[in-house]
Amino acid sequence: MRVLTGIQASGALHIGNYFGSIKQMVELQNKNELFMFIADYHALTSLKDPKELKENTIDIAISYLSLGIDPKKCTMWVQSDVKEVLELYWILSAFTPMGLLERAHSYKDKVARGINANHALFSYPVLMAADILLYDINSVPVGKDQIQHVEITRDIAIKFNNLHGDIFTLPQFKVPENLASIPGIDGSKMSKSYKNTIDIFMSEKALKKQVGKIVTDSVSIEEPKEYKDCNVFALCKLFMNKDELEELKLRYLKGGEGHGHFKMSLKEKIWDYFEKPREKRAYYLENRDEVLDILDSGAKKARIIAKEKMIKIRDTVGIYR
Ligand code: ADP
Ligand code: TRP
Repeated sequence: MRVLTGIQASGALHIGNYFGSIKQMVELQNKNELFMFIADYHALTSLKDPKELKENTIDIAISYLSLGIDPKKCTMWVQSDVKEVLELYWILSAFTPMGLLERAHSYKDKVARGINANHALFSYPVLMAADILLYDINSVPVGKDQIQHVEITRDIAIKFNNLHGDIFTLPQFKVPENLASIPGIDGSKMSKSYKNTIDIFMSEKALKKQVGKIVTDSVSIEEPKEYKDCNVFALCKLFMNKDELEELKLRYLKGGEGHGHFKMSLKEKIWDYFEKPREKRAYYLENRDEVLDILDSGAKKARIIAKEKMIKIRDTVGIYR
């Protein structure tokens, strides 16, 4: 089965991204033909600083490689390295009713939040459809916010296929099973946009500071503490095994320790958990050429599929050569 995921190059990765998505990707690459690209054209809809966009693009690649994506198993490239996707985007636009895009939640939400609407933001789902349909993808693992985009992709593909026969494979969306949302330091969903993240690759000092900011009840040191709704405990669940969690529960119930102590335990756990990825990241930061080579060879593979598909699509719609 061919599985595709696209990642926007829009900032440092946090532990919500890791447990909500990256971890599953690393598992998926063992059993599927995994395609993964860095969506720099998409990021352009919101990111306007050129240096930052370039830096983020490489940084995302380095981070994914460090966290276990294996270039031998996964085809990994940067969206803008396969220009065919823009041609398909235009062709698909001619098969996309305005109403379909007007109904898109992500566009409506962004406008409601005061983000200036531009055409790229509006037509974003058509480019996403091109990303998917260009490579005959069977399955697209996405978070809930992206389901509608895969549905739009299917709608566009169906419209096209109805007129021209079975040109496009219809993709299924797949929402990861343990999609429980990972809480941020304020208890709401961890997200870059809420500025409540704990980033995977922060320095030890910054990590300590950020964990220190996790919102907790104010209870005196002596008193027993509630672990069930505690944000620190919720995050510990991701990093501790059963025995460690039982031990932590007892520490909460016993009293005599403040939340600061539990935060220290959490910080240690997070720091240790990402030790190997940190080492790998340091290696790739020193050896950027190796990362560029990986992206080049990924783009080469993706381009072979894209070129062949576009020949068929051009002929189908009547582009004369
Ligand atoms: P952000 O909300 O920080 O902008 P993205 O929307 O870029 O994060 O998310 C990238 C991936 O990480 C998506 O697959 C999304 O479902 C997952 N993800 C992000 N935040 C969380 C979270 N708090 N809990 C679970 N999964 C998350
Ligand atoms: N829109 C996706 C996001 O913001 C990123 C993306 C672009 C994507 N093209 C894709 C995801 C194709 C899956 C398939 O997360």
